[in-house]
Amino acid sequence: MRTIIEPFRIKSVEPIQFTTREQRERALDAAGRNVFLLHADDVLIDLLTDSGTGAMSAAQWGAIMQGDESYAGSRSYYRFESVVRDLTGYKHIIPTHQGRAAERILFHNILKPGDIVLNNTHFDTTRANIEVEGAEARDIVVAEGRIPSAVLPFKGNVDLEKLEEALKCDGERVRLVMVTITNNSGGGQPVSIENIRGVRAICDKYRKPFFLDACRFAENAYLVKLREPGQQHRTPKEIAQEIFSLADGCTMSAKKDGLANIGGFLAMNDDRWAESCRNLLILTEGFPTYGGLAGYDLAAIAQGLEEVVEEPYLRYRIQSIKYLADKLDSAGIPCVKPSGGHAVYIDARAMLPHIPPLEYPGIALVNALYLEGGIRAVEIGTVMFGIHPDGTETPAPMDLVRLAIPRRLYTQSHIDYVAEAAIDVVKNRESLRGLKLTYAPRFLRHFTARFAPVETCELAEMA
Ligand code: F0G
Repeated sequence: MRTIIEPFRIKSVEPIQFTTREQRERALDAAGRNVFLLHADDVLIDLLTDSGTGAMSAAQWGAIMQGDESYAGSRSYYRFESVVRDLTGYKHIIPTHQGRAAERILFHNILKPGDIVLNNTHFDTTRANIEVEGAEARDIVVAEGRIPSAVLPFKGNVDLEKLEEALKCDGERVRLVMVTITNNSGGGQPVSIENIRGVRAICDKYRKPFFLDACRFAENAYLVKLREPGQQHRTPKEIAQEIFSLADGCTMSAKKDGLANIGGFLAMNDDRWAESCRNLLILTEGFPTYGGLAGYDLAAIAQGLEEVVEEPYLRYRIQSIKYLADKLDSAGIPCVKPSGGHAVYIDARAMLPHIPPLEYPGIALVNALYLEGGIRAVEIGTVMFGIHPDGTETPAPMDLVRLAIPRRLYTQSHIDYVAEAAIDVVKNRESLRGLKLTYAPRFLRHFTARFAPVETCELAEMA
């Protein structure tokens, strides 16, 4: 059959809220034009994130009922540990309440001011947790990873020449090399096994530890299976296992490919690092067999990690992302190509060339999608990445708008509706206006910033 259907049926439903355009205008105004500040009840289709928003399976809910809430040594922890160990092979498995807690614990333990972490592209929380230690988060993705229209299979790859150059020139300061799979901030693009092997070889040569940011490891594994020569005969799990085996550890948000609503972990082979991480964990997250989670959360993650590598699920997952990307593409909407693992990224800078990057074309598009269809997307651009630790602001490498698709949540008709609304917005693209910031905090400003439209008189002055 050519039609790839959802490999599940629906056992439990949740109503979604319809609003009028006037209601949405009022809600957006009250939220300072920042969709993070909307009430979720005012959103019809929520594509803000694929993190913690997926639907759990009946087996996960069943596992939740059997969660063991013992403070120490809970049965749910041991099941979780054995599933994570089988997948990753790492010696130490430390649960955390979500991905950024794993990042904070790792970086606080190993970084000092002036250190450098190299990564294909740091996610916002990863970057912030490095910078808060006074260290530098340096992105070294391949050049084509920053060209939305370039159609290449592995645009998340690390630029191995840049990696080697950084280690040659700043080797003393480089504390850790990371690879984010898939490369979320760069369009959800996968990283090839060949590239990860290359990173491993260079890290061995310069004796540097290498960690994965593994949030979307299963989607990356399936894209490797589809796109990398010689990988077609392997299961996604075998591919993921090899990728984990090439690194010394990982940070993980189980809110993505853990198919859970909350949770994460830090895993590694080094005994000394693990000991100091566990000590900090006890201070801020909890005892090492629960790490800020309930026993039932650990049970749901263990089950989710087994389901996420199943091939029918991954085939449907990757195909459903491509389905939306193809619809937008055929309507002439510029998107990051090819579509990746968890989201469709619209190139807002290309779509709205009349709005300069420092007037945030991504935010203008996010606002328009909400007003048009009650759809909530997220800017991954100059508001998220344009501000530097010294307070200066420059355009981010790209101004993207991400339509993140929660796992197993929406059906094909929801996605058809999203495409229809996006196509209506693009028809009126000239009418969209830029924005200016009226409030922004120092770190992670995109979450709580507020905006106002650039006034028509200001535009006239600029002209
Ligand atoms: N690393 C990557 C690549 C991520 O995408 C995220 C979260 C994190 C780390 C942090 O994990 O949220 O569990 O603390 N990304 C979400 C997103 C928030 O919308 O892309 P967390």
